[in-house]
Amino acid sequence: MSLAADAIRIEKLQPNLGVRISGLDLNSDDIDVHADMLRHHFVHNAVMVLSSPGLESNNHVRFARLFGKADADYVSPADHPGKPDGDGLPKRGIIYISNKRTNGEITGSLPDGELHFHSDGAHRKSPYRATTLYSLELPSRGGETKFADLRAAYDALSDDMKKRLEGIQVHNIYDTRATLREQTDASNDKLSNAIHPIVRTHPDTGRKSLYLSRLMTRNVVDMDPAESEKLLEELFQHIERPEFVYAHPWKLGDLLIWDNRSVNHARNDFPANETRHMRRVTVSEPD
Ligand code: OGA
Ligand code: MN
Repeated sequence: MSLAADAIRIEKLQPNLGVRISGLDLNSDDIDVHADMLRHHFVHNAVMVLSSPGLESNNHVRFARLFGKADADYVSPADHPGKPDGDGLPKRGIIYISNKRTNGEITGSLPDGELHFHSDGAHRKSPYRATTLYSLELPSRGGETKFADLRAAYDALSDDMKKRLEGIQVHNIYDTRATLREQTDASNDKLSNAIHPIVRTHPDTGRKSLYLSRLMTRNVVDMDPAESEKLLEELFQHIERPEFVYAHPWKLGDLLIWDNRSVNHARNDFPANETRHMRRVTVSEPD
């Protein structure tokens, strides 16, 4: 049964980044009835928090479909996290972000601890438009997902810096087992990598944002290595400034969606001996 419209609450989490929508039952037709409202808040606030204890996998996918092409053709079996596709990259599909182990073997993706800031799929030619993540089991502390607003970070640059970045491209390289920058061997040319402009414009809002991250961005294309290193470090520090960041303290049954074109995300460390188990459905650009 659908809830009366006045039971829906919409609260901003920060002035421009993040919104919480309460009062929807995502196991019901509410998903379709409120599709336009959900799409509006997703695009403008970049991070959307909903709560839906008991959210079934098919309804999770149905939610993801509101925002584009949900990656649901492939379901990662618990014991084959991110099995490679034809191109050697993990398949796009329903996967588990999980530190659960069977006989000591990891069963999910991105299992343990801290994760540096990144945008999902920035190492691919066609990155993910959005990511949805649903919490099934949580540790007693830590493991917050942090979001950094790349639009606000762009707006806060000096005019000189905005000019300097015009037309610049960056090279992203990522080893899909890595959670920290140091864990990717950037000299390994077999790793998944892609070149993207450092500034991009959101197709729905027209807002500009920065597009680089500590986890994946290795160098500025056609720039002297020392100069590139210096520029990237300056920009990493800028985009991770606390005033651009919202840290989400997870509750069981939370469903988050974020726009990978507008925010980077990261994860705080959490106790290694406690379980953190999440279901992830991504949204890709059309083929
Ligand atoms: C992801 C991711 C963060 C988290 O699923 O892409 O970065 O908090 N997850 O687990
Ligand atoms: Mn991610």
